[in-house]
Amino acid sequence: MHPNFEKSFYITTPIYYVNDVPHIGHAYTTIAADILNRHKRLEGYQVFFLTGTDEHGQKVEKAAQERGIDPKTHCDEMVVRFESLWKRLNISNNDFIRTTESRHKKVVQKILQDLYDRGEIYQANYDGWYCIPCERFWTEKDLLEGNCPDCLRSVTEISEKNYFFRMSQYQSWLIEYIEKNDRFILPPSRRNEILGFLRSPLEDLCISRPKKRLKWGIEIPFDTEYVTYVWFDALINYVTGIGYGSEENPFSQFWPQVTHLIGKDILTTHTVYWPTMLKAIGLTPPKMVFAHGWWTIEGKKMSKSLQNVVEPNRLIDAYGVDAVRYFLMREVSFGMDGDFSHTAMVHRINSDLANDLGNLFSRALSMVVKYFDGLIPPPSDLQEVDRGLQEVSEKVLLQVSKQMDDLAFNRALGSIWEIVGAGNKYIDETAPWALAKAEKDRPRLGTVLYQTLESLRIIALLLAAFMPSTCEKMWAQLGMGENLWEQKLNVNGKWGGLKPGRKVAKPMPLFPRLDPTKISRGA
Ligand code: MSP
Repeated sequence: MHPNFEKSFYITTPIYYVNDVPHIGHAYTTIAADILNRHKRLEGYQVFFLTGTDEHGQKVEKAAQERGIDPKTHCDEMVVRFESLWKRLNISNNDFIRTTESRHKKVVQKILQDLYDRGEIYQANYDGWYCIPCERFWTEKDLLEGNCPDCLRSVTEISEKNYFFRMSQYQSWLIEYIEKNDRFILPPSRRNEILGFLRSPLEDLCISRPKKRLKWGIEIPFDTEYVTYVWFDALINYVTGIGYGSEENPFSQFWPQVTHLIGKDILTTHTVYWPTMLKAIGLTPPKMVFAHGWWTIEGKKMSKSLQNVVEPNRLIDAYGVDAVRYFLMREVSFGMDGDFSHTAMVHRINSDLANDLGNLFSRALSMVVKYFDGLIPPPSDLQEVDRGLQEVSEKVLLQVSKQMDDLAFNRALGSIWEIVGAGNKYIDETAPWALAKAEKDRPRLGTVLYQTLESLRIIALLLAAFMPSTCEKMWAQLGMGENLWEQKLNVNGKWGGLKPGRKVAKPMPLFPRLDPTKISRGA
């Protein structure tokens, strides 16, 4: 690899179907990807972060038909909902790809033509069953009591000529690849699931749909009677998005240093279809595909009406962007299923954010304002208790880096809260308000407040990826004039970066406490 590319990192989210408006599941993956992006940048990586929309296929065509408008107009309207939500959620993606863009269509057609010319794609008769919501074919033996084995909805019988990708020939290669690369599919339970799936013979993949049944898709370049199967089209977005196939592109820098974040329901498409497609195209599979769990809402599976209760814009209105980002990452281990409840949300805000973090911050700042006119005092004559706080911060800095590599967001937050806890304990133990009473204790008072503020500076750096605007505020209030996003954790994360003599701002509450008796039901 080119030496400049060693610290390159490419993050993608699934591209979301535009048959409906964005919901909490979409927000969840996108927030996780944003956090990883921001954190890796603070670690000094060059990161490319891609998200976008999946606009072809039967689901989208049907949604447009139901609204009585053409599919492209429908997509143009829906895509705005996604883009504006990402803006509100402070998502820092480098690019946004829509599968209806010509840059994408061109790449899909080029890949199809190339695979066809090399005999990787052939035509044959297809007799079987089709699930429209999943956009997937099933054989008779796949069905569960006559229904789709994935979503349990009814399926339609079809018999037609179609084009097939010779996926089956890559089965043993894929098994070997997964076995040799134990971080390719994570968490490990998902890796086992796919290895289990691959114990049965892998079939070839039907990659076309006759236009008489579906018009809304990318035309197959070698047979204009057909459009491309939406998944074959959609998976290619990840290479289109970084310029595969064109001269000037970031492709050579970022491929295959890629981490795909997905939900557990789209594991097979990303760890069986996608790597075999890449193998046929002649590209190395991605570094990692991480499948997260699903959210239930107040203990129930997400339905249309529950989707409204946790509509992301409403959550932001009620709780604020950073609290929503924090809750989703803190409440559940990434990879596991979790439950969203307003009670849990309010509890997290009041206890973790307002109480633990907010109080530590405002107590420390107001004492600097009160006792030192807001000028950061210098530390001197460190005692064991002072070094203890520093040691916790140094340990956490290393821990968080490892936890973020494992996408263990909730553990990383747990670690950051170890500093918060240590900071609160430190203030209680050193009792700066008592030191303020005697002039002779002023140097000691200065040391205690410096140490506390310094721990808060480290907290702001480590937490910035999770709660960007809160940490920007903390950073500025701590008198740090430097741009937060230009900091490097291995340099600026070192203890002692806070500058004595600089002025802190009067503290503004970071998180107002919420009244638990007035918990929103989103109605
Ligand atoms: N368009 C495809 C992906 C193509 S990627 C080449 C798709 N789109 S989707 O809009 O239906 O779903 C996108 C993501 O939302 C999936 O990763 C899915 O797991 C996630 N979620 C949908 N409901 C969810 C929850 N209730 N909880 C968490 N995530 C969920 O699939």
